[in-house]
Amino acid sequence: MANDKLYNAKQAKNDEFYTQYYDIENEVKEYFDYNHDIFRGKTILLPCDDPEWSNFTKFFAQNFEKFGLKKLISTSYAVESKKINEWEPTLFETESPYYDADKSRTNGKIFILDEDINNDGRFNINDLHWSYLEGDGDFRSDEVKALRDEADIIVTNPPFSIFREYFAWLMESGKQFLMIANKNCITYKEVFPYIKADKIWAGHRLWSGGMWFETKNPDDVDEVVDGVNMKNIPAIWLTNMDHERHHEPLKLMTMERNLKHSKHKEIRGKNEYDKYVNYDAIEVPYTDAIPEDYNGIMGVPISFIEKYCPDQFEIIGIGLELADMDIIREKLGKLDGGPRFYIEQNGELIRLYERILIQKRQNIL
Ligand SMILES: C[S@@+](CC[C@H](N)C(=O)[O-])C[C@H]1O[C@@H](n2cnc3c(N)ncnc32)[C@H](O)[C@@H]1O
Repeated sequence: MANDKLYNAKQAKNDEFYTQYYDIENEVKEYFDYNHDIFRGKTILLPCDDPEWSNFTKFFAQNFEKFGLKKLISTSYAVESKKINEWEPTLFETESPYYDADKSRTNGKIFILDEDINNDGRFNINDLHWSYLEGDGDFRSDEVKALRDEADIIVTNPPFSIFREYFAWLMESGKQFLMIANKNCITYKEVFPYIKADKIWAGHRLWSGGMWFETKNPDDVDEVVDGVNMKNIPAIWLTNMDHERHHEPLKLMTMERNLKHSKHKEIRGKNEYDKYVNYDAIEVPYTDAIPEDYNGIMGVPISFIEKYCPDQFEIIGIGLELADMDIIREKLGKLDGGPRFYIEQNGELIRLYERILIQKRQNIL
């Protein structure tokens, strides 16, 4: 159902990038493998997903029976609201008895899979039926909110430009979810408290290398693969559904071994780990350099969250909230930027990247 040629990408905002099928498959597989009943009897809503573009719809429709789903709902955002000027509906739409030339531009669409429409004894993508929504399909509309409230699980890669609104909408729902987000969102004041409280966590996929998406913006392309414009984004999965790695403790070395044998030159050969000037904690610049036998508070990079096992560590806070900047102001006579932890090296104060403070759970050796 691809519609690439008809899409005037120049008008597309940077929100128009699309998740690859295998990224969705590799991630969702982890939740299913961990719990074969995770999706059984559930209604899934994909609230930013036109099946003509979105592999999420395709993936869940194709796995409808395997997952034992009750209902799949996928809604799309109207082209007019997306601010796409040159656009034509696909044959899929115009050849449908439901086609309406006016609504085609101004209204969102809803696709539902909940019955064996073609009576072939199977539930699959051929059983998706659609109609226009009353409104433009904005996830913030009452119409899509009602679908959110009907659903058990909400899955998508939402528009990053209104990430905070999407996240608030999702948290307000209290539903299970899986979403793609920019990795920096971990530090947002709207998101971090949920991570700290272990109400939401990183998905299974590790963060390094970012994720590749198909982009509709020809002016912002990192690679062309088989004629398809691709963009690399430091994106991560966020969820409140369980997967194996969420319960897998990190394998670490003692402090002594790290100081002797760490592969990181910032640690190896030192007498001790650096201490922050403006907080009572040690600086651990790499997750794999966390000393397993240290009971005090440690600052780690935000990428720690990708491997965070709440049974092993407790999250204490974040530099943004806890760094004491009065000490820094006094020492430097000025402040450059917001709250961060500093270390002192050769008499010089060094401002670090954002750090998350953690402490070993006392019941773990
Ligand atoms: C990053 S893209 C991802 C699309 C699809 N979920 C995927 O991963 O392939 C986000 C989509 O959300 C749509 N969108 C933008 N604002 C929206 C809104 N307020 N409500 C619903 N969808 C919106 C965009 O047009 C875009 O198609």
